[in-house]
Formats: sequence, C-alpha cells, structure tokens
Amino acid sequence: MLMMIEITPLLNRHHGVSLYAEIYSYIKGEIESGSIVLNARLPSIRQLAQYLTVSKNTVEAAYQQLMLEGYVESRLRSGYYVLPVDEVSTVPPKILDTTNTPTVEKSLRFNFDYGDIEAERFPLRVWGNCLTDSLSEDPQHEVLGYGDKQGDCDLRSEIALYIYQSRGVACHPDQVIISSGTQQSIGLLCQLLQLRGEFIGIENPGYQRVRTVLRDQGCVLIPIALDQDGLSIEELNTSQVRAVYVTPSHQFPMGMILPIQKRNQLLRWAEDNDALIIEDDYDSEFRYVGQPIPALKALDSGDRVIYLGTFSKSFLPAARLSYMVLPSSIIVQIQDKLQSYNQSVSPIIQKAVYLFMHRGHFARHIRKMRRIYQSKHRALIRAIIQYMGVHVEVIGHKSGLHILLDVKGRDYRELIEQARLHSVQVYSPRDQWLDPQMCPASYVMLGFGGVHEEAMEEAVQLLYKAWFGSEN
Ligand SMILES: Cc1ncc(COP(=O)(O)O)c(C=O)c1O
Repeated sequence: MLMMIEITPLLNRHHGVSLYAEIYSYIKGEIESGSIVLNARLPSIRQLAQYLTVSKNTVEAAYQQLMLEGYVESRLRSGYYVLPVDEVSTVPPKILDTTNTPTVEKSLRFNFDYGDIEAERFPLRVWGNCLTDSLSEDPQHEVLGYGDKQGDCDLRSEIALYIYQSRGVACHPDQVIISSGTQQSIGLLCQLLQLRGEFIGIENPGYQRVRTVLRDQGCVLIPIALDQDGLSIEELNTSQVRAVYVTPSHQFPMGMILPIQKRNQLLRWAEDNDALIIEDDYDSEFRYVGQPIPALKALDSGDRVIYLGTFSKSFLPAARLSYMVLPSSIIVQIQDKLQSYNQSVSPIIQKAVYLFMHRGHFARHIRKMRRIYQSKHRALIRAIIQYMGVHVEVIGHKSGLHILLDVKGRDYRELIEQARLHSVQVYSPRDQWLDPQMCPASYVMLGFGGVHEEAMEEAVQLLYKAWFGSEN
C-alpha cells in the first residue's frame, strides 16, 4: 500500500550548510534507517516547501540529489517514491584464476598489503566518463590551467556537503583546502602555520608517514602514549605541545575508537591550552561495530580542530586527492600566504571527482564498498577464529581496512617468512612505533582491502598451515 509521509527536519538556517543539503540529508537518513519505508510517497515539492517555509527550488534540489543517488524515483504525474536501499551489485564475483597471474606474482597468491583496495569493483566506466566530461564540459577551458589555489570551488562545496552528511562536520567550502595526499596536507599545514621548531604531539604508535613529514618540516615531536581506549589525555596534559595529531575514529595502527568522554577531554585540553588538534579521519567510512561516532571536528565548538580527510580509501589512492578543513579563524589568517602556493592536484582530476560526487556516483560507490568491505572483514575474522582460535588475538577489528594479529609467543620475522613460503604476504607494523623495538615482536598487520572475500578463508587457512602446521 502506498502512502504519503510527513517530513519534519530540524533546519539550522545559520551554520553555513545549504538548506537543500539539510533536507536531502534528513530524508536520506530516514530512508536508510527505515523510518521512511520502501514505496512511501514523499510530499510534493510544493507541499514540503510550504510546510518548511523554504523555496520550491530548495526542495527540488534535495529531491534531485536523492534521485541521483538512487534513494527515490519520480513517477510521472504521481510524485516521488522511495526505492529499495540495498542495490544489487552487477559485478560478478571474481573467480581466482592462477593460470593468468604474472610469473613474478605466481609464488604469492594473497597479499595483505595495507592500502590496497578492491579494484575490480571500482566503477571504471563511470569514472572514465567523468574524466572525459571534465574536459568536454568546460567551455572556458578552466581545467587546462593551474586552477584555484585552494582547490576547485565546486569540489570543495561537494566535500563540505559530504562531510556534513557523513561525519557531522559543518563547514563553509572556503574552509576546505584540497591537496594531493595526507602527507601533502600536513606539509602545507606546517608551512602555513609556521610549525617549524614547535612542539607537536603524536600518537605512539602512530602513522609513520605523517610523523616523517612533521619531523622533516622541523617540528619537535613529542610522543604521547596510548591507553587501552586511545590517546592518553593524562600524558597530553603534561606535554606542553602546541598541537597534537590524532586518529580518533580508528587509531592507526592499533584500531581503537576514541570514546566520547575522551573526545570531550581532548577538546577541553585544546581550549585550556590554546592548542590545536589535527584530526586524521582517514577511513571513517568503514565502521563495522556499533553506532558511528561523529568526527571530533563535529564537536568542536571552540574551533580548535583541523580536520583531515582523504579519497584514498573511499575512492581511489590513484586520485591523489585529500583535503583539510581549517578553523575559520585560521583560514582568514593564512589566506594571503595560501596564494603563494600552487594547488598540487590537477584541475582535471578535481573536476572529474566533482562530477563523480555531484552525479551521485560517490555516495553509491561508498554504500557499495561499505557492504563489500564489511563482508570481507566478517569473512576474515570468521576464518581467523575458526582456524587459529586461541593461538592469536585480533587487535583493532571494529573498523577500517586493516587488523593487527598478535600471534602469541612468535616473532614477526619468522611469521612473515613462513607466510611467504605459503604464498601469503603479511607485514610488520613496527615502523609505526617511534622506536620499532617497542612494537611487540608477535604483531603482524593484515590489510584486507585488496583480498577478495571468497579468497579470505583460503588465505587464512594457508596462514594457519604456515604458522601452526606442525602442531596438528
Ligand atoms: C593514518 C592514515 N592517514 C591517512 C592515510 C591516507 O593517506 P593519503 O591521503 O596520502 O593517501 C592513511 C593511509 O593509508 C593512513 O593510514
């Protein structure tokens, strides 16, 4: 039975996010949560516009976006109707064909390299169209030049919309700066904020590639230890750092999720000490256990958080596209200086990603990948429990695209070597520790983004044989 539903979003008309985005976001959330059911008819554009006292264009734009992303469809002379949320993947599962693998790879059947993504499920044709259109739909030939220093204006608007919807981060597109990677964002930040010689707190263990940039930019690194639930606020309180780099959504590499109490303490620390927080939200799209926790930036009423995001996990590492959101007070200060730096991402790529987002492909892609990575993650954990049981402990399994395994009582060199002899590549996370000797020797790291779900059990079986074979 079809029915028309009532829609009452709480519109915040002053915080810089457009009304159409709020209406769109609200309805999308209601459909995803099941509050607006399949086949329900949305109010007409005129009715909803009148009811919310907004213009018809605003509602129409929200409905258009919902249509683009496949949440609703328009039926002739009848209205807008809700579609099934779960789309069926049209890509057939990949059958493992070892006869076609290149000779160098022949000995290696499964590679748990952190950073790999599921390339076979990437919508290459659609992306190709966006790339072509970025050139052909550009009468002023803007994409052939250097581009906006801060990044393509349309893309920055799409990013602002996306992080508002997905992470609760409300910002103006003018606060967004685009860069060609997280390391580049950090480097630029050091230059713009003149962090040379400043004391900067880093998680230990923490993301080694950011640590390297901070050190090479002349920052004085102050390691802050981790508690069971993430960064030690107690240590931070005694550290006297000007800024701290953190990965609260999914600590890298240990995988814990910073609880809300600690997020609040961290924000309070920044306000009390006139300090900054650099939040790296690198893989927040992929969370498998519990409710999503909003980004730290979403709670940042004191405007202390610099938010970093990347397209490397959610889209493609090859796009070389990341972004940061600066507090509005800082953006004003560094505006002039920013004009001395060229934008590092090609305007062609930026425009193509804008089209990919604007046409709804990005939202669809993320929904699809979230399901795929969730299934892979489940298959991996299930196989580990089934085959290795008490021999190992899984560390940091609630989100993201990697886990750590503590193969109790063993040494990573032997573990990596034995796995290789069974054609599986695993890695050591040692480099993420400031002093690699402090990393427990029994830890290995498995990035599972590039291993197919249907191959997961076999890969774990091989690891079991490699590590415990003689114990049978
Ligand atoms: C902690 C962390 N931050 C950021 C990134 C992404 O970096 P980039 O944007 O340079 O691809 C990664 C990815 O591998 C990561 O582990």
